[in-house]
Amino acid sequence: MNPLVYAAGYLWLWLTTMLQLPLSQPAGSRSPIPLSHDFEKDGQVAKWAPDQPQAWGEESFKLNFGDRPAALAFNPEGSLLAVSFGTEVEIYDTSSLERRHLLQGHSGIVTHVEFHPDGQRFISGSERMGRNMETLVRVWNLTQAEEERKVTHGLSDIAEKAASTATHELVLAGMWSAEDVEMETAALQQGIEETLRAAETRRDVRHDRAFVGTAAKFGSHTFSHNGSLMFYISEHNTAVALETSTLTEKFRMSHSDAIMWVGASPDGNVVGTSSWDRTVRLWDAHSGELIRTLAGSKNQNWAGSFSPDGTLIAVGSGDSIVYVWNVETGELVHHFQGFRGWVRTLSFTPDGAFLAAGSGSGTVQVFEMATGRRVQQWQVKSVHIGPVFEISDLQYSPDGTKLAFKMADGRVVVYDGEENLKWEFDSVENGMYIGSQDLVFNTASSIVVSADSDKDVRFWKL
Ligand SMILES: *[C@@H]1O[C@H](CO)[C@@H](O)[C@H](O)[C@H]1NC(C)=O
Ligand SMILES: *[C@@H]1O[C@H](CO)[C@@H](O)[C@H](O)[C@H]1NC(C)=O
Repeated sequence: MNPLVYAAGYLWLWLTTMLQLPLSQPAGSRSPIPLSHDFEKDGQVAKWAPDQPQAWGEESFKLNFGDRPAALAFNPEGSLLAVSFGTEVEIYDTSSLERRHLLQGHSGIVTHVEFHPDGQRFISGSERMGRNMETLVRVWNLTQAEEERKVTHGLSDIAEKAASTATHELVLAGMWSAEDVEMETAALQQGIEETLRAAETRRDVRHDRAFVGTAAKFGSHTFSHNGSLMFYISEHNTAVALETSTLTEKFRMSHSDAIMWVGASPDGNVVGTSSWDRTVRLWDAHSGELIRTLAGSKNQNWAGSFSPDGTLIAVGSGDSIVYVWNVETGELVHHFQGFRGWVRTLSFTPDGAFLAAGSGSGTVQVFEMATGRRVQQWQVKSVHIGPVFEISDLQYSPDGTKLAFKMADGRVVVYDGEENLKWEFDSVENGMYIGSQDLVFNTASSIVVSADSDKDVRFWKL
């Protein structure tokens, strides 16, 4: 792999997921976004749902955080919502919107959260960013999380004592004045606390309670369907499968370049990995053996998904094509074109009849699996293939009636294909921002929740 392309890919990944670059705001670029092609049904262009489009400020509800929220997840029953912001995670009761848990176990920025199917265990994954130098995957038992929190608070007490001892010694030695103590104590205490936390992390890694690596993105699931396995990326080219109950390593899956997506098949028997080495690999979930390598893509592979019945695997590629292979035979069943830019987000309908995919240039297309026919096309009107038009978080609602996605400038778009209705929720910050955060449907498919760049998490009723 050309190192320049590799470096550019990483820079891009970092730019689009982490950094939010304020751009100069083109006048009149606000809602609704101009389209050259909209969703339609029976030749009729999609209509606005009542009171649409809307903008920030008109949401049904919002939560505000001290840092930018990055990742969201509902538990399987939909009674809890996890929000990561900065190095912390908070878990809310969705009926009262009261905070249930505060999870402080990272020194890197938490960019992935996910509940185990049992609703009791929980994963958080952090990434290295700025001076937050850590890539770590942590497994929590939420029943014990309150205990862990006490331990964490204990660390700040210890740091306070250590800082006070140190400053006392410095004064006794005649090195520091009372003014120095006053000026430096807070920073010293913070530094000691960070050092202690880092030592705690190293200890947890030694005892297999935390894992050095990252949770895969682009539609990846950390847990297999019944939660017996979990996956993370250790170094760029290797994905690790752990037995969730014991947190012991089962096997490793390797590529010759960075892995972007990992997921288990719905029956839990096959694991798929999608990589920048232009291949997709299928692995036996019991033995860890490589079953098959799926090639054909002419560029880096990104998002992947098994079809709900597990017979197909779809992968979006940097060559602007979505490849669909038969899992059993390895035969290429479809290659869907018409995208501009890479394809880094895709979603099957819950019944598996349709596949939606979104690209880097503001294109969303939906294909019928039985015929390979394109049935929907949504295209931003622009000759520019610019980063603000990247589509992310494309997903069908749990009931399959609505398709939702985000654009890199923070917009949320939702379409109901049966009613031919659309919603658009626009950001109204003093600038456009590259890099959107997470978007999730509630379990009833009646609300979309968006983590936004102004440190708010917004709830939009549909
Ligand atoms: C979580 O912790 C509780 C309380 O210690 C324990 O009873 C339970 O078995 C734990 N659950 C798992 C899945 O480890
Ligand atoms: C989870 O699924 C795997 C793969 O099908 C199976 O081998 C395992 O027994 C299942 N575990 C549980 C706890 O159901």
